Amino acid sequence: MGVKLSPAFLCTRPGAEFIQEYCDNWEMQEGTPSATAEMVCSWRALEATLPPRQRILSDPFARGFLGPVRRRLVDGAASLPAPARRALLRRLDQALQGAVTFVLARHRAIDDLILATPSDQVVFMGAGYDTRLARLCERLRQSVVFEVDHPDTARRKAELADTVYVDAELAPTVAVKIDFARDSIERRLCEAGLNPDGRTLWIWEGVSMYLPAQAVRDTLKLFARLSGSNSLAVCDVLSDPRRTGLLANTQSQFLEVAMEWIYSEPFLWHCPQDQIASFFATCGLTVLEDLGIDDLVGRYEKRLRGWLEAAPSLRLVISEPK
Ligand SMILES: C[S@@+](CC[C@H](N)C(=O)[O-])C[C@H]1O[C@@H](n2cnc3c(N)ncnc32)[C@H](O)[C@@H]1O
Repeated sequence: MGVKLSPAFLCTRPGAEFIQEYCDNWEMQEGTPSATAEMVCSWRALEATLPPRQRILSDPFARGFLGPVRRRLVDGAASLPAPARRALLRRLDQALQGAVTFVLARHRAIDDLILATPSDQVVFMGAGYDTRLARLCERLRQSVVFEVDHPDTARRKAELADTVYVDAELAPTVAVKIDFARDSIERRLCEAGLNPDGRTLWIWEGVSMYLPAQAVRDTLKLFARLSGSNSLAVCDVLSDPRRTGLLANTQSQFLEVAMEWIYSEPFLWHCPQDQIASFFATCGLTVLEDLGIDDLVGRYEKRLRGWLEAAPSLRLVISEPK
């Protein structure tokens, strides 16, 4: 691994070529399951400790995919009285500038999209500890489902799956283990049985920002190429900070620095909001919806919180092949 600096931080500054060189050298840490996949899973597990009416999302299986440290923390939280649990989650969200709320609302919005969209195939790209196979079993049974992930994360998930799901009903799934930055996704998906003419729902959640721009472009082009009519692709995009100025700039870097230093999974790609539609267009996709944190939180959580103002601009983009 090379020196880690965040392109999103530096892209408006001198040294952009250096960033590209760095991106070219990027790779996931060999032999290590994704730490960020476990991180977002732990937020879903924490959310599951709240009373049902207060949840954006209910994922009763998330806790089972946590390692011992995060599991102890979640269990510790679960043992607190309900108001203290909620306060804890809010403090965490505040410290991470709304990232927890965005991630939960994004997951819920994608659940709703899957439930509302008929498809022959559903492809979870970078599935992590997604538990929709169980949570949305009835709906996913109506499609051929592919869970695509890095071999190290996929292996850990497979090792834990029997214990986590126990007697839960599961939609049948084809597991595809692949490194997006190195392997031919197209060849591997077609070998695994993907029908390039099928009506496909591509779910690419929480992954694009960890990839070099070229890998993002190639993957979006692949969605456009391997899709029959009425297919959709949903993907989140790290965009501009929502406010300008020194304080806002510093705040918006916080999450990126945390990703680099704590998780060794730096953000590598971001796209200014006014360029999202054109970026997708060059990949053969038409943007249908571009949803910000306010749009998503407004759907599921009526109490908008002050600290979301400082949140980095994470967007959920729904597109269709041209
Ligand atoms: C932040 S996690 C998101 C997981 C899941 N989609 C979710 O939202 O809970 C990022 C996922 O992308 C996968 N990933 C990151 N880089 C990858 C690569 N080069 N090849 C394949 N998968 C990759 C990780 O294994 C991980 O599962």
